[in-house]
Amino acid sequence: MGKKVTVVGAGFYGSTTAQRLAEYDIFDTVVLTDIVEGKPEGLALDLNQSRPIEGFETKVVGQTTGPNGEGYEVIEGSDVVVVTAGLPRKPGMSRMDLLGVNAKIVRQVAENVAKYAPNAVVIVVSNPLDEMTALAQLATGFPKNRVLGQAGMLDTARFTHFVAEALAVPVGSVKTLTLGSHGDTMVPVPSKCTVNGKPLAELLPADKIEELVVRTRNGGAEVVALLKTGSAYYAPSAAAARMARAVAEDSGAVLPVCAWVDGEYGISGVYLGVEAAIGANGVNRVVETDLTESELAGLKEAAEAVRAKQADVATL
Ligand SMILES: NC(=O)c1ccc[n+]([C@@H]2O[C@H](COP(=O)([O-])OP(=O)(O)OC[C@H]3O[C@@H](n4cnc5c(N)ncnc54)[C@H](O)[C@@H]3O)[C@@H](O)[C@H]2O)c1
Repeated sequence: MGKKVTVVGAGFYGSTTAQRLAEYDIFDTVVLTDIVEGKPEGLALDLNQSRPIEGFETKVVGQTTGPNGEGYEVIEGSDVVVVTAGLPRKPGMSRMDLLGVNAKIVRQVAENVAKYAPNAVVIVVSNPLDEMTALAQLATGFPKNRVLGQAGMLDTARFTHFVAEALAVPVGSVKTLTLGSHGDTMVPVPSKCTVNGKPLAELLPADKIEELVVRTRNGGAEVVALLKTGSAYYAPSAAAARMARAVAEDSGAVLPVCAWVDGEYGISGVYLGVEAAIGANGVNRVVETDLTESELAGLKEAAEAVRAKQADVATL
């Protein structure tokens, strides 16, 4: 049977994710939902009318959902659900400022996903990311491997872009890695960064690398400050769509994601940004990579910072 993917939340992040998923042309159906009456239906109609031009057969279905889960039947049978519902940041806000309001939204969405798509893999993108991923797992009651979050792919892509720009080389020649949390304790891993296979440290002075690391850590805020009305969505949707594709194709692709860590790196019991092999069941396994002492210390610090915040999500 053909694959079905649902995107909950038809804002900037959700609508661009739905577009990318539809244009892959690997799904039977892309469902797009939102609580704003008519918005997902209108976007779906518009996306479907792009099919003859872009040349894809995937059908996009838009559905407004109600406060008591009305309309959620449409997500039945979804292999993957991407949760983008929730407010984005405005200039000056931190991701944690969104915690209270987005927790209510994500909990309600997760409960309906559990009811109507009990076998789906859930990819969370709503912020604050690490906490919303932990909350979605609690509220769905799904096995931890079937709930993951998107952050690392985006942070890594930003880092790669900045390195490519600084060295004036193609992005395809640059490999970077970021682990940790989607926020202040993001852990860039310079020892894993290369350009055409050459260590980044041989190509850029340490202070320049540090400058790019800082810009990467603040990559989201930089876009928010320019847009003034919301946050980034082109690069974020590219990342979430790739993750959903890895699930749908059961590809086993190793991607930096927010995954449940259970002993890897000597860290346990927390959702954290790590590399993981992604397939039909979500996270097949967390993939450990060799880290320097200071990188490992940074990852452990990030784990403790998000652990403290994730402990509170049960009460939200
Ligand atoms: N993880 C990341 O890397 C990353 C990157 C960028 C943005 N984000 C986050 O993604 C989220 C969405 O961002 P955006 O730019 O699309 O915002 P947006 O305001 O454009 O869209 C959010 C949409 O969610 C909808 N919504 C609200 N409550 C809902 C509910 N209960 N059910 C269904 N839909 C609901 C809104 O009506 C709106 O259309 C934000 O929380 C933002 O912070 C995460």
